[in-house]
Order: sequence, then structure tokens, then C-alpha cells
Amino acid sequence: MGNYIRIGALISGGGTNLQAIIDSCESGKIDGKMVFVGSDNPDAKGLERASKHNIPTFVVDYSSIIRSHRNEPDRIKLPDDFNMEDISSRLSLFPAGSDPLKIKSFIITRAVAEAGLLEKMQSYPFDLLVLAGFMRNFTPYFIDRVNTGSGIPRIMNIHPALLPAFPGTDGYGDTFRYGSKIGGCTVHFIDYGEDSGPIIGQKAFQIEPDDTIDSIKKKGLTLEWELYPECIQLFAQNRLKTARMTYALEGGKRVERTIVQIVNGEEALGR
Ligand code: GAR
Repeated sequence: MGNYIRIGALISGGGTNLQAIIDSCESGKIDGKMVFVGSDNPDAKGLERASKHNIPTFVVDYSSIIRSHRNEPDRIKLPDDFNMEDISSRLSLFPAGSDPLKIKSFIITRAVAEAGLLEKMQSYPFDLLVLAGFMRNFTPYFIDRVNTGSGIPRIMNIHPALLPAFPGTDGYGDTFRYGSKIGGCTVHFIDYGEDSGPIIGQKAFQIEPDDTIDSIKKKGLTLEWELYPECIQLFAQNRLKTARMTYALEGGKRVERTIVQIVNGEEALGR
């Protein structure tokens, strides 16, 4: 990986996390350089932030792909290397008993969009892909084409809750409505489930009786802008390792989980 890493980012909205990462690269808090910013949403405000820093941008308009498939399902052109059985056997985004037609159309539209992203990304070689407020789930089609090689995964996400609590699209809202007394944010590697991948870092804040959803979001975002650059810098320093852990529980049950271990500087050099 050399002295600095090449970072690609995907966003859907305002891009305040993106800004924190770009600023951290520029100030030297991250040994990295942002090499592209992509979006599923042509109107994402964060695209302007990227352009201001002369970072190349692109859009793959997910909504229009989903709309065309709904209107003319037979006309959709699937990627040549697409294999429905393979992808659906590994996807774990849907609860058991979900409507198979809904799952099929999800996989088809996402694979088309994901092939579009991969094609655009090809022009910008990268070491790490960061999802910074990217509000789409990936299928294994995309994940396996980014996580090639057997080493450390290389798609990171930031989530607005203390995972595994409150996965999904409204982490702070769900935390507030549940009546939690602490909230927080999590950076993790992506796996085939929804917000279920190995956790890299978390930060927490106290929820006071007079907090509102807005004040919670403000507290949380402020922590996100610190946490995400810190986790990216650990990746840049080669200090993240995954390990498959097995734990024996009473009664003979076993729990297995891939976790992230943060190694110290010397171990990182030795790898
Ligand atoms: C952030 O709070 C981020 O954690 C969340 O979206 C917001 C994006 O803000 N991401 C998710 O909910 C992902 N499922 P930003 O565009 O200002 O960085």
C-alpha cells in the first residue's frame, strides 16, 4: 500500500462525513488521498463538496434503474457475469419468508446498478472504499468484486447507531424512539447482511431527558466526523486485521463471529 492509501467514497446526500474525510486527508490525519466520489443520487449535495476539492465524481442513478425495471422488466440488461442463484444464496438482507419476487427484483436492479458503479470505479484504482451516508445495500455481486484477494475487507461503512442495535436507515431516530439512554455511531466493514459486518470502532454519547431527535443527530454526527477518519487511518496504517472467533457456550452451543482486531504499530509493520 505504500505511504498513503487511495480512498474512493460513495455518498447519497449532504456529505458531511465525506467532508471530514477529505479534510483529514488534506491535514495529514489520514495518510490517504480521495480518488473518486460516486453517488446513487444525481442531486447529492456532497458531489459539490468533492468538486470543490477537484475530486472526480460520477453518478449511477439507482432510482431510474429501479423505475425502468418496474415499467419494462423484460428490457433490463443484466451484467454478463451475473448469476442469480449464486447471489441469492449468499445475500442475507431479507428475513426468512420474504416475498421471493421482491427479492428477485431487488437483486436484478441492484446488480445492474452495481455493475454501473464498478464500471465507473474502474477508472480510479483504490485501496479502500468508504460508504459515507450511502443509503443503498450492496448485494454479493458488488461486494465480491471489490473484496477480491483473501486479505482484509475493503468496504467500510459508518452507521448512526451502536450496532448491533438499530440497523437500517434511521439509526438515530430508532435510538431516540426506543428510549435508549446512550446513542452512538459505528464504523464497520461491509458483509452480506444489513449493517452486520465486523465492527472497527464505535463512539457513544449520553442521551439526556431534554434531547430531541435533532439534538441526538447533532451529537452523533459530531462523533462520526472524528470516528470515521480515525478508523480509516487505522486501515492506512495496516493496523486492522480480521479474525474468525469461535466461542463455546454452556449447553454445547457455539457462537462464531468474524471480528476486527486492532494491532499495534510493530505488528502492523511485520505483516
Ligand atoms: C450519517 O449520519 C451516516 O451515519 C448515515 O447517514 C448520515 C449521512 O450524513 N448513514 C446511514 O444511515 C447508512 N445506513 P452525511 O451525508 O452528512 O455524511
